[in-house]
Amino acid sequence: VGHIGIFGAGSIGTAFALLFADASFAVRIYDPDPVALDRSKQMADLRATELRRFGLLASELAEVRDQIEFVSSASAAASGAILVQEAGPENVQAKQQIFSTLTSVTGPETILASSSSAIPSSRFADAGSAPRTLIGHPGNPPYLLRVVEVVGNPSTDEGVISQTGELYKRAGLTAVRVNREIDGFVFNRLQGAVLREAYGLVDADIIDPLDLDALVRDGLGLRWSVIGPFATSDLNVRGGIPAHAERMGPAYQRMVGQLRTSDEWTDALIAKVNSARRKVMPIEQWDEAVADRDVQLMKHLRARD
Ligand SMILES: NC(=O)c1ccc[n+]([C@@H]2O[C@H](COP(=O)([O-])OP(=O)(O)OC[C@H]3O[C@@H](n4cnc5c(N)ncnc54)[C@H](O)[C@@H]3O)[C@@H](O)[C@H]2O)c1
Repeated sequence: VGHIGIFGAGSIGTAFALLFADASFAVRIYDPDPVALDRSKQMADLRATELRRFGLLASELAEVRDQIEFVSSASAAASGAILVQEAGPENVQAKQQIFSTLTSVTGPETILASSSSAIPSSRFADAGSAPRTLIGHPGNPPYLLRVVEVVGNPSTDEGVISQTGELYKRAGLTAVRVNREIDGFVFNRLQGAVLREAYGLVDADIIDPLDLDALVRDGLGLRWSVIGPFATSDLNVRGGIPAHAERMGPAYQRMVGQLRTSDEWTDALIAKVNSARRKVMPIEQWDEAVADRDVQLMKHLRARD
């Protein structure tokens, strides 16, 4: 059937390896840095054990381990793969170099998907393989936020887009099609829109950064963990979307552009948010806080229908 190749054994590459291995795909993961490859092996074990503990792993631990091969050669990982998931550094030059390597070590049967957070694939796809190149942008961490944005470039084959979506679905991900490439795709544009307003409100001293986080954590975010913003509008006003638009539309339109003339994240503004965060979480506790966030997410996922 062919295997899944992973390029880059950092946090995203390792996570994809886990997801595909748990869905019984044979996985070969490559990184030019032997230290990264070693770390990835440990991380995969640790994460799989945690997921198992919360009932979020479909296969047995040993099965997942057996499905992943850690390789130090690019062609060993990519050659003959049905899909290569690229998870290297987030910059155009690195991705251009990786995709030119991928083009030379794979044949037309291999789909080339990039995990890029914000760079459209037309900026780094190799001319020879652009029709089988696309974006598969995951949430972070991908085994907990089980969603992936599938975004073609103007030359991507329609069949490649649907086949990639199918492979992600088999790996337990909700594959969401983004119709046209755009910086940041949709996930990070939405995240950016919220951050733009959040920084604006803090800059204008309308709210404390920690209070803003509390509003999202206990309010908006809790609701968004079961339905999206359009479903929210549909359910918030009897009569659904048109009734909501009639009642709330003018108020939302008044808010546009009310706060700031510049969207710049100034040093002073960053310092203000940082100092609020440092009061509740010393930066030395960063790893612990990430682990704790993931435990909270696993508890939520376990409790979901
Ligand atoms: N971290 C996130 O929140 C997140 C979420 C979604 C998508 N992404 C995207 O996924 C990609 C990887 O992110 P990450 O957080 O795992 O980064 P990372 O820094 O943890 O890992 C990148 C890995 O790529 C390796 N690498 C460097 N050159 C390479 C090459 N030529 N070939 C193969 N591997 C190479 C590095 O050694 C490193 O291990 C980026 O494009 C990032 O934007 C990240």
